[in-house]
Amino acid sequence: MKRIRKAVLPVAGLGTRFLPATRAMPKEMLTVVDRPVIQHVVDEARAAGIEHVVFVTGRNKNVIEDHFDRQFELEATLRDRGKMKELGLLESETPGAGATSFTRQQAPLGLGHAVWCARDIIGDEPFALLLPDMLHLGAKPFLADMMEAYSRTGGNLIGVYPVDESETNQYGIVDIGGSSDKVAEIRRMVEKPPRGTAPSNLAISGRYILQPTIFNLLETQERGAGGEIQLTDSMLTLAKSEPFHAVRFDGAVYDTGSKLGFLAANVAYALSRDDIAPDFKAIVKAHLG
Ligand code: G1P
Repeated sequence: MKRIRKAVLPVAGLGTRFLPATRAMPKEMLTVVDRPVIQHVVDEARAAGIEHVVFVTGRNKNVIEDHFDRQFELEATLRDRGKMKELGLLESETPGAGATSFTRQQAPLGLGHAVWCARDIIGDEPFALLLPDMLHLGAKPFLADMMEAYSRTGGNLIGVYPVDESETNQYGIVDIGGSSDKVAEIRRMVEKPPRGTAPSNLAISGRYILQPTIFNLLETQERGAGGEIQLTDSMLTLAKSEPFHAVRFDGAVYDTGSKLGFLAANVAYALSRDDIAPDFKAIVKAHLG
């Protein structure tokens, strides 16, 4: 079984739901506590053993490339001032030379198209796909959990979590035949089912492990829900010839692509930090009156 070494992070979205904040700044750079959303996701990938991160970007996203580069002036200043803790943090969180790639999606044709844009950089290897809007807060980085499951199942895996029945029309939904196992075979999946037609309440959480055969299908995939080239549609075809398992996430998922999800993530991540939680709790309590 081939090891998963590379991860794809699609970051070409316009961020219209966060205007005016995203007029000049990519939505992925909005901060949850003290780090950009994208950094939380890269940290998760690296903690799971990912060695190379492929960013599928678009216009006005250059600052993401700068964020993951070394900054000699800043490093020198921190060293001069004896700020070794901050320096250590910068160094440990910056991917090494040659461990990142950036390619552009060029046109907003959907998630399936964004993933397809990474085909040459990924090559003939299975890979992880992480949608940066979705933050997973749990005891362990979720992708690490999925890697562990992959070592037993092989094939393709999709991270899932339960959502309210009223929200199933906003996500990809999978059917695992009512199984309560953490890792279960997928029977069916559907992208954003109309209200009342979802086969379950298990939503695709934005974490995947995929075989490179997906690229051949994406190449000719016709437009689906919302007029976009949907990854879920190609996965449905792939599921006819390759195994697909769902891995359930036990922690909390925050959809930072929505204002409320973003605010909730800030509250939850602040409360999960030993250095901030005590004072922050008092502030929240005072605001609630
Ligand atoms: C995408 C996927 C969907 C998944 C969701 C998670 O949709 O197509 O299956 O549930 O991400 O955020 P999007 O949010 O890009 O519309």
